[in-house]
Amino acid sequence: MSIRIKLLLSYTGMLVVSLLVFVLTASLFTIAATGDIHSFRDFYKVHYQLNPLTEQEESIFLELKYLAKKEPDKLQDIELLQDYDFKLKTVRAGLYVRREDSQIFESHTFNQPKLEQNLPSYDLNNNQIRSTFNIGERFYAYAKFDFRYSDGKKGSVFVIRERSPFGEVTRRLMPVLVVSLIGVIVIANVLLFRWITRSVVKPLDKLRNSAEYIQQGNLQFSLDLNSKDEIGQLNEAFENMRMRLHESVQLRLQDEENRKELISNISHDLRTPITNIKGYIEGIRDGVADTPEKMDKYVNIIYSKAVDLEKLVEELFLYSKLDLKEVPFMFEPVDIIGFLDDCIDELHDVLEEKGISLEWGERPDRGIEVIADREKIKRNVLNIIGNAQNFMDKHEQIIRVSVQASPEWATIEIKDNGRGIPPDAIPHIFERFYRAEESRNSSTGGSGLGLAIASQIIEGHGGTIWVESELGAGTRMFFTLKRTTNQGGTTNP
Ligand SMILES: Nc1ncnc2c1ncn2[C@@H]1O[C@H](COP(=O)(O)OP(=O)(O)O)[C@@H](O)[C@H]1O
Ligand SMILES: [Mg+2]
Repeated sequence: MSIRIKLLLSYTGMLVVSLLVFVLTASLFTIAATGDIHSFRDFYKVHYQLNPLTEQEESIFLELKYLAKKEPDKLQDIELLQDYDFKLKTVRAGLYVRREDSQIFESHTFNQPKLEQNLPSYDLNNNQIRSTFNIGERFYAYAKFDFRYSDGKKGSVFVIRERSPFGEVTRRLMPVLVVSLIGVIVIANVLLFRWITRSVVKPLDKLRNSAEYIQQGNLQFSLDLNSKDEIGQLNEAFENMRMRLHESVQLRLQDEENRKELISNISHDLRTPITNIKGYIEGIRDGVADTPEKMDKYVNIIYSKAVDLEKLVEELFLYSKLDLKEVPFMFEPVDIIGFLDDCIDELHDVLEEKGISLEWGERPDRGIEVIADREKIKRNVLNIIGNAQNFMDKHEQIIRVSVQASPEWATIEIKDNGRGIPPDAIPHIFERFYRAEESRNSSTGGSGLGLAIASQIIEGHGGTIWVESELGAGTRMFFTLKRTTNQGGTTNP
């Protein structure tokens, strides 16, 4: 059963119950007001409108009427009249008898001085026996019979009953009241139903449609989050879920794109050395290397290409393992000054031979201990110095290593006076396979993975790596390493 139908049924149920309660309350009120269950039973019956007196009053009236017809003079006997009045009193009605213009008997029941003037005049045809009248705010119902006494004088006998004005008004207004009550209940019902439909059913419909969109793979819509109620919260949760899903789908597409790009880059980079090796081997096979010298040259070239290939595969392997976070980091406290000193010592002579001087720049006088994986940081330093060496274009070639320390971090700078990096390339140099000026530096044989690996390594250490470079003037490569906690104090030079 849909919520809509459930709501409709529950409202209709409510309507019926409230009507029943209303009818019950109205009956109880009537009984309480009149104190008479019979009057309630007579309530609104056609019989009642024709016959404003109760059955008992009516039977007394009939007796009096009979008397008026048969023995009219008895209606001058005060004692008899008092008897009748007494009977009527017990049912809260009263007797009134008149003869011509004078009153013969008036019941004390009503205590109404203006009663006489307000009674209807003689009508010996007795056309209207039963009727009502009011004096001020008091209402009376009566049954009347006009007759002639034996001496021919006109007489009337009245059985009168006072009705409460409230009852009278209620009786008159009752149909209007009932109709308007039902109207109000029905209108309230309709309004409530529409309100609930609008605030509950429609948003739920929207939610269902959205779920269908998602099912069809469409995640590019957004739910309006206006309401703050439970449905609004549900919408919000749903919207968050959609956004998450959208993000993860985007991420997956991006990953897919990256993977394709990676494969195409790898196959491109592997093809070049393999084609070269194949070419030289074909040369040997076809007898182009016909002298021992030529043969030597060919074999050496093949060897160096194989070395390049090996290096490339090794870099790729390292990069992909770092990327998948599969390489464990062996962190230990490292005195970074001593460590860099060792690196410089190791590289100094090799670089000197190539005319490049590798030297210390600024550094703190005492040791700075950082948390690092020695092997990986060495790899990082070698990659950066390797670049500095590869992209050198000056006559006097200098690579300078500096260290600065803050209480928490050590910042290592490796500065060269090489050709610098074009500004538009700077944001990309840490991306894998990225090489600025592809054609020129393909001669350096770089894979474009050096800085991508460096960046993975520094990220793994929780540090940051960045570059500052001026085209033509040189490049400054920075990275930070976290200091061990037991040192403290600033050790700036
Ligand atoms: N010290 C530097 N001087 C000039 N350009 C540099 C320097 N370091 C990096 N680059 C630029 O950044 C690119 C990416 O460097 P890297 O990831 O090490 O790749 P590769 O060295 O294999 O080309 C290089 O191709 C080069 O264009
Ligand atoms: Mg490199």
